[in-house]
Amino acid sequence: MMQTTTPTLTALFTGRRAARRAAHGAPAYGEPVHRTAARDLGPQGARELLAEVFEPSTDRLAHSLGVGRRAEQVARALGRPELLVSAAYLHDIGYAAAARDTGLHQLDGARYLRRLGAPDELTSLVAHHTSALVEAGERHLDTRLRDEFPPPSDTDLLDLLTYCDMTTSATGRPVDVDERLECIYDRYAPGHLVSRSIHRAEPQLRRLVSAVEERLRGR
Ligand SMILES: [Fe+2]
Repeated sequence: MMQTTTPTLTALFTGRRAARRAAHGAPAYGEPVHRTAARDLGPQGARELLAEVFEPSTDRLAHSLGVGRRAEQVARALGRPELLVSAAYLHDIGYAAAARDTGLHQLDGARYLRRLGAPDELTSLVAHHTSALVEAGERHLDTRLRDEFPPPSDTDLLDLLTYCDMTTSATGRPVDVDERLECIYDRYAPGHLVSRSIHRAEPQLRRLVSAVEERLRGR
């Protein structure tokens, strides 16, 4: 059983709806009801959304599913909430055609999920995963990213999400951090903004992965 010290996504959605009702009052009879029915983005809902926005049999879909599966194991082993699992499935949704806008996939993904009614706890994880601020700086979007999506208060969840991303290959296989980094450097030319950003973030990413591996070994 996963630990439930953090509210479930369903509870977060319900709480947000209740707060909205309290702020605006119930609509009068006959008044149109504008429902922005927040989509269920628990792990199952997250997988369903992926299947809608990514072409079947693509690496992007396979990678997203692989990171989600990795997060299921990590959440179970370390007693972390399902929020981590949902964020893992959805972390790269900013690459989907429906979400793409600025080119910074963390920002595009977080905005897209916010439009679907995702809670801040989820959007901030997606917005900041895998050293997003480093690439955001390269794209001059760091202030915007931080302003629109303040970093998550639970920094451990962010580290675990980044760990899952950095230990899952582009096709969804579990790999070590060396292979993962090699793949990224292979995919993008040396001067490319993405390889430059990952290169700058590499020491921090390696430290983070080692620390999580040590925790997992200690279990
Ligand atoms: Fe990823």
